[in-house]
Amino acid sequence: MAKHEGFVDVLEGIVYGDEGKGDIVDEKLAHGEYDVSARKNGANNAGHNVVTEGGDKLILNAVPSGVKYRDIICYIGSGCVVDPVHLIEKEIPDIEKAGLSLDGRFKISAAATAITPIHRILDGENGKDIGTTGKGVGPAYVSRALRANGKILENLRFAEILANHNLAHKTLREQYDRLLKHQLIPPVADIDAKIARFMVAVQMLNHRGYLEKDSNWLTKEVKSGKNVLMEGAQAYGLDAVLGAAPFVTSSSCVEGGAFVGGDVPVRYHRKTIGVASLIPTRVGNGPFVGEFGGETSELYCAEKDEKGNTKHNKVFEAREYVMGQLLKSDDPFMFGIGLRMATENYGATTGRPRRVGRIDLKLLSAAALRSGLDELVLTKMDCLRYFESMGYVPVITGYELDGARLGHMPITADELYRVKTVEEKFALPEEIRGVQRFEDLPPNAKALVDRIQRETGTRVSTIGIGPGKQHKVRLAA
Ligand code: IMP
Repeated sequence: MAKHEGFVDVLEGIVYGDEGKGDIVDEKLAHGEYDVSARKNGANNAGHNVVTEGGDKLILNAVPSGVKYRDIICYIGSGCVVDPVHLIEKEIPDIEKAGLSLDGRFKISAAATAITPIHRILDGENGKDIGTTGKGVGPAYVSRALRANGKILENLRFAEILANHNLAHKTLREQYDRLLKHQLIPPVADIDAKIARFMVAVQMLNHRGYLEKDSNWLTKEVKSGKNVLMEGAQAYGLDAVLGAAPFVTSSSCVEGGAFVGGDVPVRYHRKTIGVASLIPTRVGNGPFVGEFGGETSELYCAEKDEKGNTKHNKVFEAREYVMGQLLKSDDPFMFGIGLRMATENYGATTGRPRRVGRIDLKLLSAAALRSGLDELVLTKMDCLRYFESMGYVPVITGYELDGARLGHMPITADELYRVKTVEEKFALPEEIRGVQRFEDLPPNAKALVDRIQRETGTRVSTIGIGPGKQHKVRLAA
């Protein structure tokens, strides 16, 4: 790498998403080391909570977390799928309401596939059993891989739409008619209005100068000395290929995706930072080893009311339960509800209750190994105080399947549903505010962090002890 060239650091969630990556990106960007905040995969299925410098709370879905810093350029890479209607009608107005301007510093690769109204309809139909976010993500990635369906173009990238607006419009209608004819979707009364809104949104993104037609734009920036923080969406456990299919998202969540979907060559990679929450959670269906309440919790979290909305949401639980009592419960399912309430673990995008579970060293070490982590960030250490009544922090240290200890991480959902856990009890960590070096951590916190470091073979660089970048304890190397 020539001296004047920049570098790319990749930040990746290593459990099932919602590890608190937004705060960590924020903490990293605050030090002025990076010029570009970029996304490499996923879409507006992600939900990152960010607090602006003016104190406004902002939920970001598709736009990179760096948007809150006015001198940072935000880039959505070609590996993402992008819903123009969501951006134009919701996310961009929300960002602007928080007093932030995107003009001149927001770019979406025109090689990215657009999430169309058809994708959203399809996801609403076939994403139910997986428990997708319903944002059209899976179907958009399907279109990208399928390319065309006979003579009908499937993969509408922004570049194609801009090149021939009328053809794109006609193609969307043809896609809809074909799916309807094969009874793959129900009739949608306002489909033409939906397609028209979509077309307008694409034109508006273009008009505002947000669609970047040079696929080498980011590479040129890095070559000329700019540093990039590439933010992963979702996480290792939800990776399209490595996760427990079909209960996964549809993109590559591991670090290497940065050098495909992030539009930069691997030559510029500097380091990979993994983020894991000490209160692991999962939204949507699928195996979650160590979940408090197991299958009961999975079913409870997925339940819908008669209108099809999430039944056991934040409002429901606040009304029905007394958190303090649940945290004293011997019943893991009830304890799990208490822990969710205490840690406010409800989906930022969908409001769904997140399933909560035990720290899983087996999953963490598999993710760290596969991702080649250079450093690890542990979030929510302060939340381990909610284990006070239990008297210890339960930690999974191994899996058994059919009576035998497993050396590897099972691939299939069926195996993951059947594994039995081997657990150890860790003493509750003490207050660590103000600690600056690993050696100075108090004994219980040190024992836990030390064990995580050993199992993952990765140095813990930062520990989260509260929300926001001000509550991050950085440990000296
Ligand atoms: P999709 O990405 O909407 O297709 O959903 C597939 C699975 O990934 C579902 O279990 C979702 O709940 C999960 N998922 C998608 N995005 C996120 C995220 O940002 N955090 C946590 N889970 C996610």
